[in-house]
Amino acid sequence: MVCLGNICRSPLAEGLLRKKVRENDLNWTIESAGTNGYHTGEAPHHLSQKVAKCNGIDISEQISRRFIAKDFEQYDIIYVMAQDVFNDVKNITGDAFDKNKIKFFLDEIHPGKNLDVPDPWYGDEEGYHDVYKIIDETCDAIIKNYIITKEPR
Ligand code: 4NP
Repeated sequence: MVCLGNICRSPLAEGLLRKKVRENDLNWTIESAGTNGYHTGEAPHHLSQKVAKCNGIDISEQISRRFIAKDFEQYDIIYVMAQDVFNDVKNITGDAFDKNKIKFFLDEIHPGKNLDVPDPWYGDEEGYHDVYKIIDETCDAIIKNYIITKEPR
């Protein structure tokens, strides 16, 4: 899960997907990172922590880190939260960029549209609640879409 700062959107996506993966007995490793590195070493934004906690998820232990080229080796799917994040990932990774592994997060519910998850960083608390709902719905879709494609035909 990749956003710009790794303090608002992607930490929510990491916490939410990890919980749903556990509930569905899937053995996936979920991590998050940011492309700009401005908040490396910090915990998630206090409002992301608050909305997660309101919904029974503790993301307080997560630590912001910068996305690195090696993440393309380490992970099967790199979900980007927005077009600017996609562009940054491409610039950071150079030759290691793998277009078959990168996906727009919102494509799980709006296939092929490459939509941005709104960034709550510039707004008030309401934006964090709104973005939580979007990320929650999309993480449900990730699991559902995965299970549908794995079902025997
Ligand atoms: P995020 O939000 O990408 O959802 O973590 C941001 C947080 C910090 C900054 C930008 C976006 N920043 O420029 O510091």
